[in-house]
Amino acid sequence: MSESPQGRTDDKDRQLDDDRVDSKGALTTDTGVRVDDTDNSLSAGERGPTLLEDFQFREKLTHFDHERIPERVVHARGAGAYGYFQVYESLADYTRAEFLCDPSLKTPVFVRFSTVAGSRGSSDTVRDVRGFATKFYTREGNYDLVGNNMPVFFIQDGIKFPDFVHAVKPEPHNEIPQAQSAHDTLWDFVGLQPETLHMMMWLMSDRAIPRSYRTMQGFGVHTFRLVDAEGRGTFVKFHWTPRLGTHSLVWDETQRIAGKDPDFNRRDLWEAIERGQYPEYELGMQLIPESDEHAFGVDLLDPTKIVPEEEVPVTPVGRMVLDRNPDNFFAETEQVAFHTANVVPGIDFTNDPLLQARNFSYLDTQLIRLGGPNFQQLPVNRPVAPVDNDQRDGYGQHRVHRGATSYYPNSLGGGCPALGSDPYRHHQERVDGAKVRERSKSFQDHYSQATLFYNSLSDWERGHLVEAFRFELGKCDTHQVRERVVERLNHVDHGLARDVAAGVGVDPPRHEAVPNHGRSSPALSQARTAMN
Ligand code: HEM
Repeated sequence: MSESPQGRTDDKDRQLDDDRVDSKGALTTDTGVRVDDTDNSLSAGERGPTLLEDFQFREKLTHFDHERIPERVVHARGAGAYGYFQVYESLADYTRAEFLCDPSLKTPVFVRFSTVAGSRGSSDTVRDVRGFATKFYTREGNYDLVGNNMPVFFIQDGIKFPDFVHAVKPEPHNEIPQAQSAHDTLWDFVGLQPETLHMMMWLMSDRAIPRSYRTMQGFGVHTFRLVDAEGRGTFVKFHWTPRLGTHSLVWDETQRIAGKDPDFNRRDLWEAIERGQYPEYELGMQLIPESDEHAFGVDLLDPTKIVPEEEVPVTPVGRMVLDRNPDNFFAETEQVAFHTANVVPGIDFTNDPLLQARNFSYLDTQLIRLGGPNFQQLPVNRPVAPVDNDQRDGYGQHRVHRGATSYYPNSLGGGCPALGSDPYRHHQERVDGAKVRERSKSFQDHYSQATLFYNSLSDWERGHLVEAFRFELGKCDTHQVRERVVERLNHVDHGLARDVAAGVGVDPPRHEAVPNHGRSSPALSQARTAMN
């Protein structure tokens, strides 16, 4: 069994013992029949045709033919590790989640880092967002914090996610470019959908080319809600901070590394853990009383906005250490299924429309990616908390349920588990309003925080950002699209727009944009009208 060099075994590790397989015994077929030759197929005569009755040959080839499963529709390329999380002090004032209230508990975790746009075989050091997804195997069930290395997102409503991803992914006719932000469709989307602007500033910054997964921040992005034992809610934003500090590569390095070692980040994580230099991250929380929901001039439900740390400082609450590499990439890193809706008592959602969409999307995609409804039984996904319910059958069912009943209520006994005491209860938020298909007015300012981000950069960081815009936008063939993006950037910062324009063959904007926070712009309305 693979143990961390510290000899650590936790609930998850012990559970995995039942699934770990070391090949030592005699070679057999999948049905356990011993075989003594795996080099030659059964043929009619030494030089004759292969026989259909060669069940060993057919089974081996058939299994191989079915080895691949669909890659994730986004975040296809990743690297994972096990470890543990421990809270510093009880957070019982805010949440009833046991793993956040008991400092003596070491909660096992599995973390998967990823790039977003590239396919499974793409290179690590591309300009892209990085995923930072953590599964906590708590004694009250699995909790997944499915975050990124940037604190905001490109879109405000999940209904735009397919549009956005279609614009980001390789262009459908030729699948070029494989994993870069340098193409017409992305910039077309950005120019027409200015809510992307804040995140695009992060994407063009050095944050998009982290040096190592060990030197990368993570963010839950959305505002979530903690709920205490009395049912009182507190808004929360999650932050992971790496112990080693936050470091990036520079663009030139990324290009060379991508050629020489496309596994650069993946290798670094693996080797650091093998060497015993365990990556560590501190979990921090911005805690916001519900009474302060409207105190910060931004809508907490808008995932394109941060809550400035000057206004709500990040409170360090706990530490995560990654101290064990997986035994098998496919079984664990590939088959792990994160989901924003995997929550435990004491952690709840908000009405952020992006989060609401995610709460639908992950389970939906995993049903097809992992072949049916039983993927929570896979070793890496299986909770250490007991699982008992009336769900039955389906592809990949590994449990042998006994008894005649699988419904509730029943008076015959047998299959039906009792309703749990101390259950998950949703926060009792009052909800009313007319049914509308309309973006909230409080979501309309697309520029202030993009400007805030730009203003926070040092001169050399701004230099890198301008170079990135010039390189990536400069690859866009359509003049009109480049022009529109520059016009958008003029709302962020006039100097930035002029600097970028000079590098992408577009006339620099002559005047500063009238601050309109993106509510309307003649160029944008024109472009949208032309599309209709
Ligand atoms: C992966 C959908 C927004 C972080 C995925 C996957 C889907 C998806 C379908 C593949 C999951 C799988 O096959 O197991 C969406 C939708 C979004 C959205 C519909 C918006 C409506 C976000 C945001 C973040 C994020 C805002 C970060 C805060 C991740 C991460 C993964 C992922 C880290 C990879 C998980 C892993 O390592 O397996 N997303 N996503 N996504 N998403 Fe999202």
